[in-house]
Amino acid sequence: MLHLAQSMSRLGTESAFEVLARAQKLASEGKDIINLGIGQPDFNTPEHIVEAGIKALRDGHHGYTPANGIPALREAAAVDLEKRHGVEVNPDHVVVVPGGKPTMFFAVLMFGEPGAEIMYPNPGFPIYESVINYSGAKAVPIALEEENGFAFSAETVLNQITPNTRLIIINSPANPTGGVTPKEEIDKLVAGLAAHPHVALLSDEIYSQMLYDGRQHVSLLQYPEIRDRLIMLDGWSKTYAMTGWRLGYAVWPEKLVEHATRLCVNDHSCVNAATQYAGIAALTGPQDAVHDMVKAFDERRRVIVSELNQIPGFRCADAAGAFYAFPNIEGTGLSAREAQDRFLNEAGIATVAGTSFGSWGEGFLRFSYANSTENILAAMKRIKACL
Ligand SMILES: Cc1ncc(COP(=O)(O)O)c(C=O)c1O
Repeated sequence: MLHLAQSMSRLGTESAFEVLARAQKLASEGKDIINLGIGQPDFNTPEHIVEAGIKALRDGHHGYTPANGIPALREAAAVDLEKRHGVEVNPDHVVVVPGGKPTMFFAVLMFGEPGAEIMYPNPGFPIYESVINYSGAKAVPIALEEENGFAFSAETVLNQITPNTRLIIINSPANPTGGVTPKEEIDKLVAGLAAHPHVALLSDEIYSQMLYDGRQHVSLLQYPEIRDRLIMLDGWSKTYAMTGWRLGYAVWPEKLVEHATRLCVNDHSCVNAATQYAGIAALTGPQDAVHDMVKAFDERRRVIVSELNQIPGFRCADAAGAFYAFPNIEGTGLSAREAQDRFLNEAGIATVAGTSFGSWGEGFLRFSYANSTENILAAMKRIKACL
């Protein structure tokens, strides 16, 4: 009999991967599956980035790098942030990690323990709640409402702060809702945080380049008054279609850099060297592929939101960012999980139940529109027929 640590029973998962596995199994059995479940761009990594990775391997970059990332990559990230957000970032505060997830895990490990409280968006990226529970801290949901376009409310967040609150996680543009929180609300949150200097903030800005209808991304880095307690997460996975390369970073407050780097040393030593060189090419090379990809997402977004609103029992809010639509499906009489299973098994359409993103996701289904317009239209037709 093995004796696992209690904490393992508290660790959750990301059901999008389970849906992907089920969809792949059905496809391997000959079923025609359209995958609107997985949250990754359906584009290849731009060629010049791939070439930089290959060149790095050919040039002999086969060994360990500094745990926090090679200096040229951290400098490129700082320059990119200055260009995009108009803020100064010290490259020494940038810690490069394998993807977006490690920053979440490290931030929660730093602040989470029994007796502590950590706030997280719900519905939200499922790993937040999972790792908070794992740490033993109390996971306090920030309820996101359809009526607000799934933007978070500063008032809701501030009202929930207690002396035990250690960390607040926010995410805009958001997974799974596509919600973008307006600047006024972020201004209010930052102003309110002045009364709570014991609270740190993790801002997950991994979709910072995917906003539509002229919306501008607001980075929490733009608020100097909270820079000493802000962890700003971004990365290459979504922007450069590099989910499988495993490359991300965060800008940490000066006093946490050492702790974050130490977690890197204990966890993975460093990100693989060739990937880091590819990351430099991504940030310093032409950005045309990024713009083309976002343009394609925008076109598909218009199609999918309009189509979803024509399905009986569906109601879809405007999807302001990222590449997800999150319709309310209560009118179908199906629960989120029933709808997910029925559409996959009977119509061959992979989606993810809203409840995979927290209890506030009941009655909703996540559609990723990282798929061709043709497939999106075919999927909508099949769902209508299935209902
Ligand atoms: C909001 C959000 N943050 C972070 C990540 C993690 O990205 P990565 O694959 O780079 O770990 C995702 C991935 O879906 C995400 O949706």
